[in-house]
Amino acid sequence: MNENSRPFKPFEPLVERIKKDGICLDGGILKVDSFINHQIDPTFLQSMSIEFVRRFANKEINKILTIEASGIAPAILVGFLLNVPVVFAKKKKPSTMGNMLTTEVFSFTKNKAYTVCCSKDFLHKGDKVLFVDDFLANGNAAKGIIDLVEQAGAELAGMGFIIEKSFQHGGEKLREMGLQVESLAIIDSLDNCEIKFKEAEV
Ligand code: G4P
Repeated sequence: MNENSRPFKPFEPLVERIKKDGICLDGGILKVDSFINHQIDPTFLQSMSIEFVRRFANKEINKILTIEASGIAPAILVGFLLNVPVVFAKKKKPSTMGNMLTTEVFSFTKNKAYTVCCSKDFLHKGDKVLFVDDFLANGNAAKGIIDLVEQAGAELAGMGFIIEKSFQHGGEKLREMGLQVESLAIIDSLDNCEIKFKEAEV
């Protein structure tokens, strides 16, 4: 335990919503596209964002960072509540962007590496950044973000995920780095298409 780790508590409304609307696919994939990452339930997203704000109330934050595409919706709601700008790292280098930070991310689901970039104009020294995303699986996207934040000389206040899949171990690695990682629901297994949630720690 360090100052950034505390007992896990699921955000119960999310657990209930996943039980109701989540669909388990082969290969350890959880489909939540009816309320998070295709069709979006903004009222529910708002309630999850309030929970993120509560969990990171101990941190000074002046910027929300996410990665396109599915992270953008939850990130905007957290940024709205904290009244800070929201920056999304891009997966394709825009032809109009010159002054930028780049990093390589390996996607296990797609089995290929891609470049993630962010303008130096929007991420710089002195920024206190909260990263928000929908899923934490292997944690490669998160590691790419950590690299961008370090290159910028900014500070990572914490990382918030709607759903973490503990069996892909990304969360473990990030917490070992001493980061404050907050996941609203943690899924321990999707074996046999049965969703097993991590229970609250006491
Ligand atoms: P990692 O970043 O944690 O290492 O994850 P990985 O490479 O395994 O995942 C790549 C993409 O798949 C990410 O989205 C991630 O959010 C998503 N993903 C991982 N596990 C699940 C899952 O169980 N269900 C769903 N729905 N998505 C999952 P992405 O490719 O960056 O896509 P997007 O943000 O543009 O939608």
